[in-house]
Amino acid sequence: MRAQLERDFERFKRALPRDFPDHVRATYGIDLTARYLGERIPHPIGKGSGQLSLTAGQLEQDDAAGLGFAVLKTVIAEDPGGARTMAAWAIHETKMTVEHRAAADGRVGWTVTWRGRGWDRSLAEYLALVRAGRDLTRAGGLLVVPSVKYHLPPLGQPFHDSEYRHTTGALATAWGEGPLLVEKDFSPTLAGDALAEDRAQVLRWLREVPGLIRAAAPVRVAVKLMNARFDDAFQVEMIAAAAGADALVVGNRLFDSARGVAYGGWDLSDRNLRVLDALARGPAGGAPGSPLVGTGNIGTGRMVLEYARRGCQAVELHTFFQLPLSQYPATHGSRTARALHALVFHPQDGLVAALLEGAAAGVVERRAGELHFLDLVDHAHRPG
Ligand SMILES: Cc1cc2nc3c(=O)[nH]c(=O)nc-3n(C[C@H](O)[C@H](O)[C@H](O)COP(=O)(O)O)c2cc1C
Repeated sequence: MRAQLERDFERFKRALPRDFPDHVRATYGIDLTARYLGERIPHPIGKGSGQLSLTAGQLEQDDAAGLGFAVLKTVIAEDPGGARTMAAWAIHETKMTVEHRAAADGRVGWTVTWRGRGWDRSLAEYLALVRAGRDLTRAGGLLVVPSVKYHLPPLGQPFHDSEYRHTTGALATAWGEGPLLVEKDFSPTLAGDALAEDRAQVLRWLREVPGLIRAAAPVRVAVKLMNARFDDAFQVEMIAAAAGADALVVGNRLFDSARGVAYGGWDLSDRNLRVLDALARGPAGGAPGSPLVGTGNIGTGRMVLEYARRGCQAVELHTFFQLPLSQYPATHGSRTARALHALVFHPQDGLVAALLEGAAAGVVERRAGELHFLDLVDHAHRPG
């Protein structure tokens, strides 16, 4: 199988077949099936919300590459009159710098430095993008998911429910038949904002927001947790507070207050994996209320498995989909296809290699001759 993997890695450099999960199953006896918000997806790798899911063209390219799912850029909620309490997040900024960033322990990783925030066009334009995504999903292709930032009040003040109802209702109408999936973004710039300085306030948002979104339309809600500027124990408290969500995304980028920018790299994955470990050791006994999705510094199949072993049923990447082309071993195809090629087929660090290694070490066992990615995830919830 090792020799076969080397051969696949070489030949797929020129073109990754869209149905690569079928090939992985037939060739290596590995079932990569994963789950995002209760939906079955052919493999665990998706795209996190951001600048890489702004247009129908980007979605079509990702669909052609065989991406697992794509979360659209975060739109800022509005009420029926068009008023947005979070308007400060709808600013226009195009310049992004993909650069190295050294972690606290000196390891050098990649980060994207960018001073923008949410969707900066109209809600109507966002709904058109949602409909384009829906068409791909309906056709049996890419699972597309909108993302929203809604009003978050200080403690003691009411939520502007009209923003929740109007925006969620508009998304549900645009999506039409079938369950609408939504991510609620708690962003790093929010973590860096004075609004997020009060712990009780943050916990209240996490407790109440899933219900407010659900009251507006039939919808499944994933809460994307920010990395608050408090310790790991508080991060675990945040996860517990958000247990009413249908899934939790752990966790959005860190905030560098000195530079006033969000960042990723090894500090981010260290923090997220540490928090997931703390969660497993906590009173919940490794069985969090909601299914988990991982995000942060994922650039190898091995790192996908680090998140999976801690209970993540899928992962969403951003930075690894925007590296300089020289960083991918593939020679042809879109960045998404090149990234998937490395993440899945790299002979040392890819998902196939790491799963075969896990099987050899007894971390995951074949059932009826097949290895299942989700077995590794389920294992994370078993006591001991
Ligand atoms: C330029 C940029 C813009 C982003 N915009 C959003 C956003 O609008 N909403 C959101 O939920 N996450 C956003 N993210 C976070 C990513 O979706 C992802 O969760 C995070 O960057 C961690 O993954 P990574 O280390 O693979 O980049 C953004 C990230 C980057 C780099």
